[in-house]
Amino acid sequence: MRVGILTGGGDCPGLNAVIRAVARQALDGNHDVVGVLHGWRGLVDGTTRPLSARDISGILPRGGTILRTSRTNPFADAGGLARVLENLAGLDALVAIGGEDTLGVAARLHHEHAAPVVGVPKTIDNDLRGTDYTFGFDTAVTIATEAIDRLHSTAESHDRVMVCEVMGRQTGWIAVHAGMAGGADVILIPEHAMTMERCCELIAHRHARGKDFSIVVVSEGYELTFASGESRRVESGDRDAFGHARLGGIGTDVAAEIEHRTGFETRVTTLGHIQRGGSPTARDRVLATRYGLRAWELVEQGRFGEMAALRGDEIVAVPLAEAVAELKVVPEELYRQTQAFFG
Ligand code: F6P
Repeated sequence: MRVGILTGGGDCPGLNAVIRAVARQALDGNHDVVGVLHGWRGLVDGTTRPLSARDISGILPRGGTILRTSRTNPFADAGGLARVLENLAGLDALVAIGGEDTLGVAARLHHEHAAPVVGVPKTIDNDLRGTDYTFGFDTAVTIATEAIDRLHSTAESHDRVMVCEVMGRQTGWIAVHAGMAGGADVILIPEHAMTMERCCELIAHRHARGKDFSIVVVSEGYELTFASGESRRVESGDRDAFGHARLGGIGTDVAAEIEHRTGFETRVTTLGHIQRGGSPTARDRVLATRYGLRAWELVEQGRFGEMAALRGDEIVAVPLAEAVAELKVVPEELYRQTQAFFG
């Protein structure tokens, strides 16, 4: 068999662990392994390279992806789809590792063009349905939690409010987990938008209880919301090939509102891509490896159109179409639990 491996969308700690697991199994079975470079762009341009045992040696703890990545959408690119199908014809199977966009393309290629694709769920945002957790999320939460811990001591020393902006384009999974782990005093997420008035009331209440500092964690996708019903999102005009706006910067607006409304000196820290860089945690290495091993089994069994997924402690297979049908948002109950420590 000639098996391709592709990583698409934003990079994510653990991608190399999946590549290693899939390639190792395939090579052990005397199959040919082809690395598709730069996500779907590699199949549009036909840029691939063979992967040998030497290529995958030592990559387990490495961040990023040895295959590079891009946000190319072949369905949005004139002639792109035809070239992808042409290049796919040279492969017996493709393992696509990605989030909602990359796997959305994989699902369409399978359903509309019978492409032999299996999926592996990746994203630090953890917003992919069909799986309990995506790999990369644990690393991002660990990095954000450490940052929040560090912000505590400087916030306390200066009697300041510290706003920490974390990633999460459409959902607040990183904010909720890191905020809870780091003991945040207020957490602001897109799914359950708290008003600025309520946020400031909680901070004022905390300070009235004798605390001189506060930590606010805000998800980059949060919309600044006011009791009047007015809301404001911070995004740049640039959109990627899947139509997503570039986010980042809402923390600055939140900090300005807090300082203006409470009178407490406030600073902002935006963690940005630091959350995605570097070595994966042990938990993500294990999860990514288990996903890779399961993806290979799916290839061997010819179960195309499916994705490896985590359910409880088990790695199962779910239809790709189910995974990309809608986003997995933070449940109200989980957000309610974080609020036990607000204010
Ligand atoms: O989807 C993962 C993610 O890290 C989001 O949290 C973030 O909004 C986006 O990617 C950033 O993308 P880029 O690397 O293209 O700036």
